[in-house]
Parts: sequence; C-alpha cells; structure tokens
Amino acid sequence: MCGIIAYVGRRPCTDLLYQGLRKLEYRGYDSAGLSVLDNGEVRIVRAVGNLDNLERELKGGDGNGASTGLGHTRWATHGRPSTENAHPHLDCSGRISIVLNGIIENYAVLRDELSGEGHGFRSETDAEVVSHLIEKHYDGDLVEAVRRSIGDIEGHFAFCAVHADHPQLIVGARKECPLMVGVGKDENFIASAIPAFLSETRDVIAIEDGELVAVTPEGVEVLDLELRPVERDVTRVNWDADAAEKGGYETFMRKEIFEQPAALADTLAGRLGGDGMVTLEDINIPDEELAAIDKVYVVACGTSYHAGLVGRYVLEGWARTAVELDIASEFRYRDPVLSPRTLVIGISQSGETADTLVAMRQAKKSGAKVIAITNIMGSQATRDADGVVYTRAGLEIGVAATKTHLAQIAAIQLIALHLARLKGTKPPEELAAISAELHGVPDLLTDYLRRETATREIAKRYFEKPFFLYLGRGIGLPVCLEGALKLKEISYIPTEAYAAGEMKHGPIALLEKGSPVVVVATDGHVYDKVVSNIEEVRAREASVIAVATEGNEQIQSICDDVMYVPRTSEMLSPLLSVVPLQLLAYHIALLKGCNVDQPRNLAKTVTVE
Ligand code: M6R
Repeated sequence: MCGIIAYVGRRPCTDLLYQGLRKLEYRGYDSAGLSVLDNGEVRIVRAVGNLDNLERELKGGDGNGASTGLGHTRWATHGRPSTENAHPHLDCSGRISIVLNGIIENYAVLRDELSGEGHGFRSETDAEVVSHLIEKHYDGDLVEAVRRSIGDIEGHFAFCAVHADHPQLIVGARKECPLMVGVGKDENFIASAIPAFLSETRDVIAIEDGELVAVTPEGVEVLDLELRPVERDVTRVNWDADAAEKGGYETFMRKEIFEQPAALADTLAGRLGGDGMVTLEDINIPDEELAAIDKVYVVACGTSYHAGLVGRYVLEGWARTAVELDIASEFRYRDPVLSPRTLVIGISQSGETADTLVAMRQAKKSGAKVIAITNIMGSQATRDADGVVYTRAGLEIGVAATKTHLAQIAAIQLIALHLARLKGTKPPEELAAISAELHGVPDLLTDYLRRETATREIAKRYFEKPFFLYLGRGIGLPVCLEGALKLKEISYIPTEAYAAGEMKHGPIALLEKGSPVVVVATDGHVYDKVVSNIEEVRAREASVIAVATEGNEQIQSICDDVMYVPRTSEMLSPLLSVVPLQLLAYHIALLKGCNVDQPRNLAKTVTVE
C-alpha cells in the first residue's frame, strides 16, 4: 500500500511531486522520497517518518528546477522503515531510479542472482531488485528493459522507472496494483491513485493489468507485454478532493471493506506455497523450538481478539495444539501458566495497544516465546516480540477494523499451517489442499463484494430496531462476536453475541416479536444444531437474518432474510462470513446517520490502559 507519483513536463517538478505525496499520505507514511532528473543525473532525496521530514530535506536542495521525477510514500512490507529502505531506489550506476508499490515474491532468488552477477544492493527491500533488473536488461531502450524485467518478476506490483539517458521519459508497469495516468497539456502524471494529481488534471487513463505505459510531456503510449500499442480512452473524473482520497468510496470504512481481497492476497503472497509449505520471514523462532510448542496462548483486544478466537479452531484443528485465549487487559492481571514451550501470540493491528503490549512483555518475562501479528512495521509490538508475522493490509483509517481483521485471520492460519507441518499433524497433501483453497479466497471475496446490494436492502428493514442478538456455533461464534462489535461501535445500537447453544440459558429472555437475530449458519459440522437454534428463535416470533452458504435454498424457509456467502471449507469460512456482517453494520450505521469512520468515544489506537 505505498503511494507513487511521477511527473514529466515543462514545469519544475519537485513541489508537484511533493504535493502529490501529501495527497497519498493516507496510503502509508513510514518514509518517503523523490528522485528527479537534473542535468543528466538522477538526484535523490529520502527521509524516514512523515512528509514533514522529507520537506525539511528538500529545502534548498539541488534539482529544484528539474521537470521529470518520481515520488514515493512507503508502507513498509520488506525491510524496516529507514532512509536506505525508502524509495526511490537506484541501480549500481546511479542512473536508473524506480518507485514501486506491491510485493516482489521472488525477490530473494533475484537478489541472489543479481548479486552473483556483480550488482551491489544498498537496501533490504524487495523493490530494489527492479532497478538492478532494469540495469541488467538495458541496452539503450528503457521501455524494452522494463518489459524484460517484468518477465523476471513474480508477484503483484506497480512501478515507475526513469533513466538519466532519457530525461523526458517515464516508464510505468503494473500487475494487480493500481496505476493511473493523469493527462495534462505538455505534461503528464503517473500515480497509484488519482488524488495525487487531481489538483492538476482530471483527465485520467487507467492502466490495466499486464500493461506498460511510456509517458513523455507530449504523449502517453499504453503498451501490452509484446510492446504493441493499446487503445485506451481518456476519462474525465468529477470527484471532489475528499472523495478522491477515499478512491471514490463514500467512506474509508467502505473502501477498506472493499480492499479486503487485496489485503488477504498480500498477506498470503510469497508465504504459502502450492505444497502447503509456509515461509514466515520474520518469525525468528527456530523450527525445532516451534515443533516442540505444547500450548499457544493468544492475547489481544477487540477485533484482534476475535481474530484470535478464529485462530483457536485452526490451531487446534490443523496443528493439534492446545490453545488458550485471553483479553489482554485481563491476562496482565492474572498469573497465567506459561513455560518455554508456550507460544504467546499477541495480535494488534496497530502494534501499540497498551494492554496487549504489557501482556506480551509479561509473557516474555515468564519464558514463553512471543510472536506479534501486526499491521505496522516497526511498531512497539514488533520490538517487544521474538518474532513477527506482518499482516499486509495497508493503512487502515476507519476506526472500525475490517481489512486488518481479515488479514489477522489469514496470518494466524499461516502460523497454524506452519505448526501443522513442523509437528506432522497434517499430511502434506492436506496442507497442499488447504493452501490451494486459501489462495482462492481473495477471488471469491471479490465476486461476493460485487453483489453486495442484498445487505443494504436488509439493513433498510431493520435499522430502526433497538437491539440485535447475534448467534453462532463453532467457528461461526467469533464471527458473530465480531459482527456484533461492528454494529455496536458504529451504529450505537446495543448488541449481544452468544454461543447459539447457550441462548436458552439466558439471552432468549430478550427476544420478542420482531427482534432481529443475526445467525451465522454457514455449512459445517454444527449446521444442524444451528438450525435447531433458529427454530427456537422463530418460536418466539423474532426475525432471523442468516448468513448461509450459497446453494442452501432450504434455509430460506426458516429465515426472514438470508445473506449468502461463497462456499469454502469450514476452517476458512470466517474469511467470508464476517464480510456481510461488516456490511450490515455499515449500512445500518449510515441509515442512522452515524459517522462510520470516526465513531464517538473511540480511538483507532488505544495507547492507554
Ligand atoms: O490495534 P489493535 O488491534 O490492538 O486494537 C485493538 C482494538 O482496540 C480494536 O480492534 C478495536 O476493537 C476496534 N475499534 C474494532 O473495530
């Protein structure tokens, strides 16, 4: 989730690039940089931290008259935030410069090959291989060198490259990550998102997957991978600046819900092989020690805790490991039984939640191994833990966690698969089958999100109800807890989430005619039990809104409304079944006129006890 901006034209470009980066800051901001082509040389300025630091570095610098350049704001995925890891990156000669958004999955192999051929690397990033690949393939034609480099790269990316020999040319390329051209008069822009150039032009060309683009002040040439020209229309966008930052979505929360397929795909990228082999690059605990783990203890708060609850099912089911869970603010005041064979997993989107940090530190002091699952590179949790599994969801701005939750579930699934292989609790062919299915989930989710209108209609029928009950069993229970939390935090409607089998021991007293009861009733080994619980709800004349598996027509006869999700195996089902509950909460909150991005009394990061 980095931000890219590039300019070629007649105007001095340093400030244009810097202003573009300001508009992209919402995409990530652990470091930033610019490179400009000035008098036959590449000049580069980079700084760690937010853009104010880059601005300080730029003041009075060289190259302020240059009119071709690249800018980048970084959201670290490979390599900690540092000046060396900040983009742009150079080749060995210092004449080629690139900025990249995405992940180069085979970067380790490419780096070894290129090092063997004499290329010297200055950063720990995956992105730097691209500048060296272009150098390797360059024989006077930058477009051809970029084309050949793409052939070597596996992963998903968008990047822009310049060469000091071609002072008025920028070459861009994309695979799965966005890249837009802003068309001006005697000048053109390339960016990862429209806000970066919206103040300068509203005429846009979208570059498609597997395409290159060569941009000069006079023109824009879109090319396929055989370098054949592609006809592409210019579209005029009429967004205001605020809508543009949200990528055209009405709120950040909605944008982030729709970014979930990418968050999931990025979190899995390069980590889960087709054979079910898992590579967790920063886990930092030797395989022998992980294989000897006899208990996993998950500590977290809020939505992160719910991801941990999903984790219990996969850790028990796949890795046959005993699992305990605790809310971090409770754990820290107990005396939990931990040993060097206990693996404590602290889950925190921000990596800064005070209660989770203290719980992790206490666990480490007791001799347990500690892993952090977090979305923020360099956060405190990453410094306190023995190892880290990063979720690569990109910056989440909405206070209500959505895409980071899905990425946390994927991260804990990766840990469970890793332990399963090390402990030999699943045969390799089963691990391979789970891997194949997991890799297919982002596409299922994309399909699902295309047809989300049903949820909006359901929300219209229930948004004025004063109370919602959520019921689920098995792996559907944490999904209910998360759905209920989403609704209460953004719509302020009181909710209760309960194990469906426990309803008759108390919560059933809450039900009356028309009370909305949301039931997670996806296919699985407890489905029939859930159906019995639905009957109990119906007997009290309450209304049932079910989340069910596509193809289950029969459930319609016992429910008032059904939100269908694509079929998956039971262990992967939360990756899909939580999404209609996010959307239901979202639409209800909007209908009630609530500010979904900044609900009252809540902070995105809770750094106090
Ligand atoms: O940054 P963390 O994941 O540690 O935050 C934990 C909770 O504060 C967070 O999940 C909170 O519950 C969200 N508002 C949920 O949407």
